[in-house]
Amino acid sequence: MRQANVHLDRNFTIGRTDPRLFGAFVEHLGRGVYGGLYEPGHPAADERGFRRDVLDLVKELGPTIIKYPGGNFSHTYNWEDGVGPVEERPKRMSYVWASTEPNTFGTNEFIEWCRLAGVEPMLVVNLATRGPKEAADFVEYCNHPGGTMLSELRKAHGWDKPHGVRFWCLGGEMDGVWQTGGKTADEYGRFAAQAAKIMRWVDDSIELAVSGSSGPYMPSFGSWDETVLQHAFDHVEWISAHTYLNNWRDDTPAFLASADIVDAFIEGVIAVADAAAAKRRSAKRIMLSFNEWNVWYRTQRHNAHHRPPGWPIAPAIFEEVYSVEDALAVGGVLISFANHADRVRSACLAQLVNVIAPITTETGGPAWRQATFYPFAQMSRLARGDVLRTRVDCETYATAYYDWYGAQEVFHPVPHAAYLKLAAVANEGGGLTLFALNRDVEQEMAALVNARGFGRLAVAEATVLTDSDLKAANTKAAPDRVRPTKLSGVAVGSETVRIELPPASWSVIRLTAAS
Ligand code: AHR
Repeated sequence: MRQANVHLDRNFTIGRTDPRLFGAFVEHLGRGVYGGLYEPGHPAADERGFRRDVLDLVKELGPTIIKYPGGNFSHTYNWEDGVGPVEERPKRMSYVWASTEPNTFGTNEFIEWCRLAGVEPMLVVNLATRGPKEAADFVEYCNHPGGTMLSELRKAHGWDKPHGVRFWCLGGEMDGVWQTGGKTADEYGRFAAQAAKIMRWVDDSIELAVSGSSGPYMPSFGSWDETVLQHAFDHVEWISAHTYLNNWRDDTPAFLASADIVDAFIEGVIAVADAAAAKRRSAKRIMLSFNEWNVWYRTQRHNAHHRPPGWPIAPAIFEEVYSVEDALAVGGVLISFANHADRVRSACLAQLVNVIAPITTETGGPAWRQATFYPFAQMSRLARGDVLRTRVDCETYATAYYDWYGAQEVFHPVPHAAYLKLAAVANEGGGLTLFALNRDVEQEMAALVNARGFGRLAVAEATVLTDSDLKAANTKAAPDRVRPTKLSGVAVGSETVRIELPPASWSVIRLTAAS
């Protein structure tokens, strides 16, 4: 059995988890909206067409903020197409997804759905094929109380009160060669700064996220962010980051080590943002909005996956079926985010329903939880509080994570991946929750956690997600094949917790102050 020693102290904190760390993403893509959260005529749909079975699962999943309407979709979107009488809304080509967009679900429906789901909306403006004025118009339509053309239009559409949308993204992945209307860093940075300025003139309470580089594998990573911030630093609170992890090589240890690449990615973006601050002698700290992240590879690489013939409405694309090992990788990224809680203050799991999603539906049929549902739901529920600095002493392994950009294959060396990846969160009332990923695919691990300043603890709940078949997944026929089960090997002492973690497992141990 492998051994690990963990040291933490209640007084040594990284930062408080921002509720927005547990966000998700809904794009007009595939069956994310139509046949996903919205399906008029479905037996579980309400009078507005919102699937209540999906809403129930969303509430259980616990996202706090949801990005909408894209993604790549937003770069050809006219927000005006999705408001007003449904029968008058135009059908449009969604170029990037080779689909027909019926526009029967738009911003007002989304806001209404968010209120029902108890989540905050995060809206993305089109800065690729439209400009600052249309972005400011969108803010006016949503947030201005009344007395102007667009705010009165919203009222005429049945929304008397402003939507009060706080979080706005200035496009996304603007450095991608795949982008409809991509820009150079200088072009985009200037454009984003102008858009931000007038959007804030319309509503000075909004928060703005500028688009960072699409990923650490991009040739322009770092320099893109640096140039964009030269233009936009004074106009934004956030910079976005995206990541999609893969297991193309079917190399589970390398796949599970990929969360360490996310750590390095986060630290790289922070360094660039803080260099921009230093150049200005500014105390302002730009926060990271990791507003797209997930495991995504099986349905990603081939054009056929996202260019269905015949311009269908809501084709079934990117419907990744997630396995146990995918859930472990998702857990690893959640640990990376928690351990950077001081700077990663918002993140969106991409996406929410059907499209690379933790929730799957059958159009006209049931909805079920994917394996990745569980680590997210547990983190959203239990990682609320102060994330503690941890020292993890255990053996490491050397590996290389495989990635690709265009036709180019890239290997990212991870020379020191600790077998145990862990986050510790001090909860209200003297509690402590541990999130532990055992990345050793062969050996069990005994982890001894020395928890200074917690006194005697009691185990309130302890679960583990693992399987003798790491490729096991939930399906319509077997929706509960993969789910967390009770973790038995947890023993508490005075300021110590000893945990036995099965090989290749994700464990969550919630401890409360012993009475
Ligand atoms: O989430 C799916 C797509 O991935 C988004 O539209 C885009 O931003 C990213 O490339």
